[in-house]
Parts: sequence; C-alpha cells; structure tokens
Amino acid sequence: MSFNDKPIGIFDSGLGGLTVVKAVLENMPYENIIYLGDSLNVPYGDKTSGQITEFAFNNTKFLLSKGVKAIAIACNTADATSKREILQCFDIPVIGVISPASEKAARLTRNKRVGVIATATAVKSGAYERTIKSYLADCEVFSAPAPALVPLIEAGKTHKSDTQTVEALKLYITPLAEKGIDTLVLGCTHYPLVYDIVKELFPDINIVCSGTSSLSALYDRLKSENMLNNSGKKGEARFFVTGETSYFEKNGGLFLGTSIEGK
Ligand code: DGL
Repeated sequence: MSFNDKPIGIFDSGLGGLTVVKAVLENMPYENIIYLGDSLNVPYGDKTSGQITEFAFNNTKFLLSKGVKAIAIACNTADATSKREILQCFDIPVIGVISPASEKAARLTRNKRVGVIATATAVKSGAYERTIKSYLADCEVFSAPAPALVPLIEAGKTHKSDTQTVEALKLYITPLAEKGIDTLVLGCTHYPLVYDIVKELFPDINIVCSGTSSLSALYDRLKSENMLNNSGKKGEARFFVTGETSYFEKNGGLFLGTSIEGK
C-alpha cells in the first residue's frame, strides 16, 4: 500500500462524526477511512477538559495504530479542549472542526450576529467565540449549551415526530433567534442529524454544520501535503467503537444510508 492509500482517521464520541464520514465518502471517494466512535465515554459534552483530553489521546493512539495518514477530529468538544495538545504530541496532520465552521459563519453573516449551539464544555471553552471573532472582529457571538441533544440523537430520536427533540431545539435556539442572529452554527457534529428540524423551525436563519464545513480544510491540507489518494479506486470505510456496537450499527447505518458493522 502506498502512503497516499493509507486511511484518514476520524474520531468522535459517538455517532456525530459520521456527519464528517458521510461528507468525505461523498466528496473524496478514493479516500479510505478508519472511524472511531468513543461510545463508552459518550457524551463528552458534560466531562471536564482533562477527561476529554485523555479520551482524545486514546482515540488518536488507536487511529495511529491502524496506520492513518492524517486525523480529523470530528468532535467540537475534543477540538475545543484537546487539539493543541494533540498537535504538540503527535507528528501527523490534524484537522479540527471549529475553525472551518467559524470561518464559514463569519463569511455568511450579514448582520454580524451569529449564534452557536454546542455542548456545555465546548461553550464553556469559549473556542467558537474566539475563533469567529478572529475571522470577523466586530461580530457578536451568542452561545448556548444544548445538553439534551447528544443523548437524544445517540438514541436515534432525530425525526420531527420526536417531540422531546423538537422541544429541546426550540428551547435552546429561540433565545438566540430573539437576539437577532442571522446565522447559527451547529457546533457539535451530532446536530446535523437534526438539521431538517432546525431548518423547519427557523427557516430564515443560515445554518452552518461544523462537520461538513471541515471537509474543505481536510481536502486542502491533504492536497498541500501531497497526501491525497488519487488511486481512482473507491475507498473503504471501517468503523470501530469503544462500547456497545448494536445501537451504533442501527442508528449509524440509518444515517449513512448504508449498513455498517462496528468492531
Ligand atoms: N459530537 C461531539 C461534538 O462535536 C461530542 C458530543 C458529545 O459527546 O457530547 O462536540
């Protein structure tokens, strides 16, 4: 296997990072992928930075043991708390989600009022606020933690008939809408699984998905390092989880629209 044929390693706490896997499969079809969902420790969003950094290091080491050529942190919470340490300790290209999503939100907003929903730990880190302002200094950023969403999404409650999910989204996003935001960042890679509900509830607000926004950053980085897989052969995705596999296979497969087998 040539170096460029090596897989991209992608990790998240659970199902959320599959939004990045889906984007890579659709747009970079020759790339091989090794995905790790740290389902044993999900949700990350209510853990401390120290705990999340330990999980993120274990995930990185696991992916490196599988021979990956680059790592995509498909988790805003791990990006916010641990990316710097990962970059310091591992000699491999590492791409996060916060910077690409912030750049996109800064580009999209017309009234310079951007909302962010994310996990409690990601909001507490202030990473989105800092990063969006680094792209658009006079932007006002309004952030809200959305703790109920990840457990609901992991449980597969992603349909508009799932009233708990709809009510939680209204509860978290309405105060941001009342601040007059014209752009909302779904600052957790799980949230695009409820994109359709958010769009239906708040049709006039631009929505930025953190996972898919990272795709062009990943592509650009691999290209600049001469690491793109140009084999012309359809890539393969392999899935690993640290905990229970059955819910992951069921809900993840539904989301990706293909059957997946967790190991
Ligand atoms: N999907 C993750 C994120 O982007 C983590 C969510 C969680 O485990 O709380 O933040």
